[in-house]
Amino acid sequence: MTSKFAQTLTKTWQAEKTAIGRFQKRTSKEPSAYTKDYGFPTDFKEFNKMIGYPINRNTNKSSPMTPYQIEYHNAIQKHHKVIVDKSRKIGITEAAIRSIGLNIFHRYAGHDIMIIAGNELKIANEILLRLYELFKDKPDLGYAFKHNGIKWKEFDLIRRVSINGQHPIIEFRNGTRVFCFAASRSGKSQSFRGPDDIIAILFSEAAHTGMLEDQPIMNALEPNLANRDSADIILESTPNGRRGFFFQYWMDIEEKKLTGWKRLKFDYKKGLKHKVLSEKYLTDQKSNLRVDFAQEYECKFTSSVTAIFREEDINILPEWEHKSIDLLKSIGEKDTTMPERDTELEE
Ligand SMILES: Nc1ncnc2c1ncn2[C@@H]1O[C@H](COP(=O)(O)OP(=O)(O)OP(=O)(O)O)[C@@H](O)[C@H]1O
Ligand SMILES: [Mg+2]
Repeated sequence: MTSKFAQTLTKTWQAEKTAIGRFQKRTSKEPSAYTKDYGFPTDFKEFNKMIGYPINRNTNKSSPMTPYQIEYHNAIQKHHKVIVDKSRKIGITEAAIRSIGLNIFHRYAGHDIMIIAGNELKIANEILLRLYELFKDKPDLGYAFKHNGIKWKEFDLIRRVSINGQHPIIEFRNGTRVFCFAASRSGKSQSFRGPDDIIAILFSEAAHTGMLEDQPIMNALEPNLANRDSADIILESTPNGRRGFFFQYWMDIEEKKLTGWKRLKFDYKKGLKHKVLSEKYLTDQKSNLRVDFAQEYECKFTSSVTAIFREEDINILPEWEHKSIDLLKSIGEKDTTMPERDTELEE
């Protein structure tokens, strides 16, 4: 006779197997599902004209992409590994989101994309939401955008969306999936497992992980792209002192210890020139003693008035601080909570 314990064990094992099976089913894609060519423009300017330009906060009017936003996109297309040291609020994340938007129907079609925010999941969710909004039906139009006289609706483009679920995701009808994560969640890093076919990683506010030793995040991420020469890894951030992997990568590239990366630096003057930032806003920020202007707007890796720790204090912090990263390993277990559907676009 089988003991109760053995029965429970068998049940648990069967549940595990089902969960793993379900995961494999969901993560393997039919090739035919992602060969659809929509014929959308592959030129960045044209693509943005099609989906609609960003709104300028100062004028409340839509404004075309700035030359530095185009330079950023072109660098991604050409170099694949790009690191951007940026001023705050100059439209860099906007450019990255739109670059991803273009490539969802181009180079990234049928593959997985990871959006990671250095700071909080809320920020990562916001980026995912901004990406979603590019393809959402516009309330005044009743469709997302028009191309060559054809009205494209969100339903034609997106299969499902979950922004605020436990595992945020947008799944496009051409098989491309976009996931978002926070590198740091209450001192622990989130599991980066889930996407199985990663072609691009956007790491926003990469210098703001809030961890003293954040290189393990990159160590966990980079192997995901190892098999693809043309996979993209995009790191963008305002600086945050002379520490962390973002600073280290920036310096190593400058000193040629790290190769294959394109460095870009966009300070406030670019934003001012193209009116993304206003003169008045900058004057206010400059006169605010709580703002480290050199760091926030001039791309300088200064240890700042906003830094939580002084550089010289870091090494005496307890050892556990250095071990606070917990990159969850198990795929099968985690999959039982694969994306809930906030919005189900399929009948
Ligand atoms: N080409 C543009 N012309 C005018 N405004 C723009 C343009 N591109 C983006 N913006 C606006 O600039 C604002 C900031 O954009 P975004 O969040 O992308 O900037 P950022 O540099 O990533 O800022 P942060 O420092 O908050 O990360 C947004 O309100 C966006 O609509
Ligand atoms: Mg940003």
